[in-house]
Amino acid sequence: MKAAVYYQTGPPDVFKYEDVPEPKCGRHEVVIDVKAISIEGGDVLNRAGGPMPAVPHCVGYDAAGIIIQVGEKVKNRRVGQRVTTLNAFGSHAEKRAAQEITTWIIPDGVSFEEAACVPVTIGTAHECIHEFGRLKKGETVLIQAGAGGVGLMAIQFAKRAGARVLATASSDARLERLREYGMDEGINYREKDLVAEVKRLTEGRGVDLVVDPVGGEVLQKSIEAAGPRGRIITMGAAGRGAREIDVGGLAVANKSLTGVYLGAEINTDRSQKMIIRILDDIAAGLLKVPVDKKFPLSRAAEAHAYIESRQAVGRVVLIP
Ligand SMILES: NC(=O)c1ccc[n+]([C@@H]2O[C@H](COP(=O)([O-])OP(=O)(O)OC[C@H]3O[C@@H](n4cnc5c(N)ncnc54)[C@H](OP(=O)(O)O)[C@@H]3O)[C@@H](O)[C@H]2O)c1
Repeated sequence: MKAAVYYQTGPPDVFKYEDVPEPKCGRHEVVIDVKAISIEGGDVLNRAGGPMPAVPHCVGYDAAGIIIQVGEKVKNRRVGQRVTTLNAFGSHAEKRAAQEITTWIIPDGVSFEEAACVPVTIGTAHECIHEFGRLKKGETVLIQAGAGGVGLMAIQFAKRAGARVLATASSDARLERLREYGMDEGINYREKDLVAEVKRLTEGRGVDLVVDPVGGEVLQKSIEAAGPRGRIITMGAAGRGAREIDVGGLAVANKSLTGVYLGAEINTDRSQKMIIRILDDIAAGLLKVPVDKKFPLSRAAEAHAYIESRQAVGRVVLIP
């Protein structure tokens, strides 16, 4: 089969489109014929400098397709079903294996492209807003990197929860595209002081919840932008800048800083039901999954470069 692989981490042009061995189907696993691959923010970071369990390495968390093989211990999946899958790597390929528990049936009316974005992107956004963010009606939330894959879905969940939604992005044009998903006020952090702008928009109080997929110095600002009893969720490092965080500002206003990692609880009944609910909501038209652009798998390097150019709003998808 063909896959987009690399022999060393680095810029997008490390990708080579090559013949590689087909994935083996473990006893608890299924193998799918991949129809759509969601390029996750984590895939981009891993390609740039993440771990390489094998050489060449096939990166990628999320892919959707049709089951073509099931392991002998698999109970509730069969050949021919449409599923979306999550695994630690291996999505950038024509076929991929995943544990049965990290496959979810795609309901009628949901495309492979939409379904591929569900587990990591949308599952994480849901965790940040609801399970760990505990966002309530009438509260104000700040979504950092609102035009990113996770950010855009967090905006939708926040609006549905009845919150006032503030979001950041690197240009006015990017912010403008977030309005249709529920953003009330946008902050172009390249032109405005983020914390001062949040304070201005909240009569000096700060927000109730911040979702921060960027980290580093942005996370420090997220702590400052939160008001009394504000909750700050740190769940990513899109900014690629490690930085020591001064947590001194938390105690002065009873703020809390919480880490969120979808994978930590993905095998629980709660998380399993959450992913199924998200797929059902997409089928019912309650959630939009914005796919900014599609590329053939053979052009994975171009797709990753496009994401790194910061033009994408929402997800970029690869098609084998
Ligand atoms: N904890 C978890 O379970 C979990 C799950 C999913 C993702 N994540 C992490 O969350 C982060 C975001 O994921 P994602 O899928 O939303 O990523 P994405 O779709 O690639 O979006 C990232 C966004 O970050 C913004 N950004 C800010 N500073 C940046 C910089 N220096 N370089 C590049 N982009 C920058 C960009 O928007 P602007 O240009 O508008 O600022 C970009 O749109 C990643 O670090 C990912 O690994 C964690």
